[in-house]
Amino acid sequence: MYTAQGFALGRREEILGRGKEKLVRALEGKLVVLGVSGGISAYRSCELVRLLVKAGAEVQAVLTDSAARFVGPLTFQALCGRPAAVGCGVEMAGAGMQHIDLGRESALVIVAPCTANTLAKLACGLADNLLCTTVLASTCPVLVAPAMNSRMWANPLSQQNARRLERLARFHLVGPASGSLACGEEGTGRMAEPEAIFESAVRLLTSADLAGCKLLVTAGPTREPIDAVRFLSNRSSGRMGLALARQAARRGAEVVLVLGPGELEPPPGVQCVRVGTAAEMATAVRKHARGAQAVLMAAAVADFRPRRRVEGKLKKAAGMPRIELERTDDILAGLGRGKSRPILVGFAAESGDPLEAARSKLERKHCDLIVANDVSLPGAGFEVETNRVHLVDEGGAEALPMMSKDEVAERVLDRVAALIAAAGKRRAR
Ligand code: CTP
Repeated sequence: MYTAQGFALGRREEILGRGKEKLVRALEGKLVVLGVSGGISAYRSCELVRLLVKAGAEVQAVLTDSAARFVGPLTFQALCGRPAAVGCGVEMAGAGMQHIDLGRESALVIVAPCTANTLAKLACGLADNLLCTTVLASTCPVLVAPAMNSRMWANPLSQQNARRLERLARFHLVGPASGSLACGEEGTGRMAEPEAIFESAVRLLTSADLAGCKLLVTAGPTREPIDAVRFLSNRSSGRMGLALARQAARRGAEVVLVLGPGELEPPPGVQCVRVGTAAEMATAVRKHARGAQAVLMAAAVADFRPRRRVEGKLKKAAGMPRIELERTDDILAGLGRGKSRPILVGFAAESGDPLEAARSKLERKHCDLIVANDVSLPGAGFEVETNRVHLVDEGGAEALPMMSKDEVAERVLDRVAALIAAAGKRRAR
């Protein structure tokens, strides 16, 4: 028979199976309690569960009675793969003391959405349902995502409640965001996007070894215009640079992302500067590299551009065009020539064995590290989620196995963190 429990487990497997490459080290195998209180944005918490489960977390949903009137517990059961607890959790308690057990075992409690009522209860330490008792009995970080009408949020009482929670080291707020609200009004009060809540959750559980550091990351291709409608570009999707920016922000760095054209959205919590051409990228990098401890040039910057951009559109009737090319500035090499240069990480996408080219780029461009890959190998090139790279520095080359671009980013940032720490020690001497 196809039971609700069986469906729930099957569904969880399906989510995990599809998203294996999305596992997040900080969340893998951790118990996350998701407290849901009664607001219309309760339905968006389902998306948050999906992101947490995909990342490898065990999610236990705890619904207030009014949340269960917005979204049925079975929906959460299906997504989490375990029964949702509702109200006071009495039916669920079984032999244990659920309100204490959940608080003790969880690595993180998220309250999303957190209504004005639940916010007030949490701020006062009230304990009249399982969600509140779990928060009260927990010792882990608590991430609160308020969601309410804008006037309710602006009310000094709600503001005081929010500040009161924030003053406690364990409590962190995400949002609320601004925009159109379910009540038809515009203002601040929308629950933060599930992706933003997820990102805050990951950050809370990630060691902040890059806190206090500014990192500049470039990503994506550049486009060099031929005429008003055509350009020269390359197949870079920007995924590797975006993964670096995302992981650096998770580890507490201040991140400026200089991003070329493409479909992908920048990760939350990074300052994104959009550029089109290699010249625009060079200007943005020079501006934002000031004060940065490290620059990671993951962008596939065009090496050549048309010498002259044709006004309007080139017409076929005008005959075969002759497009003369000229070199663009090498941004990375320019930074390497600077007197007090930041730590520099270059990328070498080669077809064939990339090691020799990587060693030559390390030296020629005065880099501290080159991330080299052979784009002709399956799962290691453009537009894919995985990569297979060599990390090359003056000490030698380390070959990493095929892994997700986020994992590659973590390994690259381990090296960057070590380089920043070593530079700090040298300065202190
Ligand atoms: N790069 C750059 N500015 C350019 C071209 C490249 O900063 N105009 C950076 C890239 O972001 C990358 C590194 O330099 O980090 C290597 O780029 P690549 O084009 O592979 O290096 P080249 O020295 O141009 O070597 P090749 O002859 O293989 O093109």
